[in-house]
Amino acid sequence: MAISLDYPDLLRVDNFIGGEWQGSVTAARYAVYDPATGNKIVDVVDSGAADAQAATAEAHRAFESWRLQPAAVRAQLLKRWHALILQHTEDLARLISREQGKPMAEARGEVAYGASYVDWFASEAVRSYGDIIPAAVRSKKMLVTKEPVGVVVAITPWNFPLAMIARKIAPALAAGCTVIAKPAEDTPLTALALVALAEQAGVPRGVLNIVTSSREQVAEVVGAWLKDSRVRKITFTGSTAVGKLLARDSADTLKRLSLELGGNAPFIVFEDADLDAAVEGLMAAKFRNGGQTCVSPNRVYVQASVYDAFADKLSTRVSALRVGPGDRKDSQIGPMINARAVDKIERHVQDALTKGARLLAGGQRITDGPNYYAPTVLGDANHEMELAHEETFGPVVPLFRFNDESEVLAAANDTPFGLASYFYSRDVTRVWRLSEQLQTGIVGINEGALAAESAPFGGIKESGYGREGSRYGLDDYMATKYLCQGGLA
Ligand code: SIN
Repeated sequence: MAISLDYPDLLRVDNFIGGEWQGSVTAARYAVYDPATGNKIVDVVDSGAADAQAATAEAHRAFESWRLQPAAVRAQLLKRWHALILQHTEDLARLISREQGKPMAEARGEVAYGASYVDWFASEAVRSYGDIIPAAVRSKKMLVTKEPVGVVVAITPWNFPLAMIARKIAPALAAGCTVIAKPAEDTPLTALALVALAEQAGVPRGVLNIVTSSREQVAEVVGAWLKDSRVRKITFTGSTAVGKLLARDSADTLKRLSLELGGNAPFIVFEDADLDAAVEGLMAAKFRNGGQTCVSPNRVYVQASVYDAFADKLSTRVSALRVGPGDRKDSQIGPMINARAVDKIERHVQDALTKGARLLAGGQRITDGPNYYAPTVLGDANHEMELAHEETFGPVVPLFRFNDESEVLAAANDTPFGLASYFYSRDVTRVWRLSEQLQTGIVGINEGALAAESAPFGGIKESGYGREGSRYGLDDYMATKYLCQGGLA
């Protein structure tokens, strides 16, 4: 089933390697499906090791000249790319919505969000300052400069098919690295369109490459990069299990890694909170992208004295959410990405119900299409339930009851993950106490919408390392070099 675009040329189905759109050397292809209907959209290249190696060779060759371009030249390329992304917002949103499922309004928001990283890093490119260190003797000058790390492989997830790839490619190019992008198997079309726009913006041959592959082929493709010492960095957003594998398997060539991995975000509502604001914050944080977001609250802790009032307000709001295909005007929650995702949500809800949860809203599949699940609220959640320990990655809110701050803090931190946490309180002393004690890379304080191009996004513990966005984001793609000149006196 084709997608109708204003610029049909944005629907690309080939790899882009060394400035050429091309199929796999094996000619293999795999199908991309619409999660709203289960119908095939189109076939794209199913790459193998030979394609991965070809991309590495091109990126490696291109690095020698790209790294020497003045930062201003790299910034201009990013600015042209940024303008083209915004100019094609509607088509990009159609691609996102069709292959990923999110409602069009959210998809348009994702285009703006992703583009903001390109704009941000166009400006950061020209601000990668070094240092001059006062030497202990007059005969020496000591300086610190920053250099691009080299060829970067960017492996991105399906939940934000545009924003996640933009926020990896933009800092890499800004720093002077060359890139091989490997989008998620489920959502390659947006990434391919983004690369087509980079080509239009004038990206030099080999500086940006993209290689698509199916789930079956991904180990072979990524394996080729892991073994190759020309690839100097891997930046990955996805599961903690895969992140650990990449860390292990890149050890032999000691690649730099940025890993933005799974979360299990606590969202805490204290009795001194503005309850209406907390409900709104939770709605924004939890139901963005239907709950398929790494920073989505996974465990909601509500203080006992306000538990029932909060549960009532929340259940009313959640029951009113409209579920439907992304291209239907009134849809607020689209389909989940695939059948496995819905199976997991169903398993978590059933497990919680058998362990004593009370169903306050939703709680079942919706039969309009293969991958819909009703927005759900579960009362009386406890830590015996699977959803307390594993990210549900769907529209399910489990409500846990707590009595005091020390109890909830211990529960919130009792997880190997540490990406994001949230709390609502009007007690200023508590605000500072909790901000220091929550073990996450990101803390939302009386706020549910956290991500911004100007802010460092990333986790601690088993949620990974490295930061995306902000001035810290450029450093992830640069190596520090110390220059010491002697014989000056
Ligand atoms: C993610 O889910 O990995 C990223 C979400 C965001 O940028 O807010």
